[in-house]
Amino acid sequence: MSYNLLKGKRGIIFGALNEQSIAWKVAERAVEEGATITLSNTPMAIRMGEINTLGEKLHCEVIPADATSVEDLETVFRRSMEVLGSPIDFILHSIGMSPNVRKKRTYDDLDYDMLGKTLDISAVSFHKMMQTAKKLNAVAEYGSILALSYVAAQRTFFGYNDMADAKALLESVARSFGYIYGREKNVRVNTISQSPTPTTAGSGVKGMDKLMDFANRMSPLGNADADSCADYCIMMFSDLTRKVTMQNLYHDGGFSSVGMSLRAMATYEKGLEEYMDTDGHIIYG
Ligand SMILES: NC(=O)c1ccc[n+]([C@@H]2O[C@H](COP(=O)([O-])OP(=O)(O)OC[C@H]3O[C@@H](n4cnc5c(N)ncnc54)[C@H](O)[C@@H]3O)[C@@H](O)[C@H]2O)c1
Repeated sequence: MSYNLLKGKRGIIFGALNEQSIAWKVAERAVEEGATITLSNTPMAIRMGEINTLGEKLHCEVIPADATSVEDLETVFRRSMEVLGSPIDFILHSIGMSPNVRKKRTYDDLDYDMLGKTLDISAVSFHKMMQTAKKLNAVAEYGSILALSYVAAQRTFFGYNDMADAKALLESVARSFGYIYGREKNVRVNTISQSPTPTTAGSGVKGMDKLMDFANRMSPLGNADADSCADYCIMMFSDLTRKVTMQNLYHDGGFSSVGMSLRAMATYEKGLEEYMDTDGHIIYG
């Protein structure tokens, strides 16, 4: 159902890879709500993923960019303003990747070059995006900028690895940049802390199916799916949230406020054998 919440607004959506991607759902909802948008992802993701299909379906241009490259980001903003007109009203950063997770390096055996890449791709890119946009004066007064985070920024989750550090940095960047962008340009900057969601990035997290089940049992409203995350993003892009900035907003069915639920307690883990090495030591990494 459309409420025309983004009628006449222009947006840039980073990170749609395939139909499961949260950014994919946000792009569809944004257009449904009356926005015109451009899409961006890495050249490799554009080749391997399905973003061109989304571009055709929504009649929007796909602009290749590695979000760690300031030059690429400048291209995205300049081209988006050419195609959509300026200024831009909203931006979604829906980007995350950890080479350490991919290579199955545990948190007590990190490769530091890879850690640098994790932080650059998943967090510093958000700073680069905003710094580039601000220098180009690309964002409208009361424009809205969002990135997607996870509760592992606040509390330790088994297997989330160096992505926890990236999310903590991402949320800090949102506050620090949000202060300056708000003061100088009235631009809003927030992060949405989303439930575990079955996507390509999500499936990289160790024990994702069990984590999803646990979170679902803990959350009074159950896990929030990608479609409802898209709804929340639309509200944050709309004029209905003009005074919300520098916040980390939980969109998790209540998970982050629950200590223990009956449904989770009832299925309390019966043993840790699966997580032991041959000497019987538990592998915590
Ligand atoms: N899936 C979950 O459980 C979950 C939960 C909370 C938060 N999030 C966050 O949501 C965001 C979107 O992830 P998703 O779950 O939709 O998975 P996804 O795999 O569909 O999206 C991740 C995207 O990041 C892009 N990307 C990777 N490296 C990049 C780079 N250098 N430059 C530009 N783009 C790059 C990928 O191409 C991909 O499109 C991420 O920030 C993720 O951490 C996901």
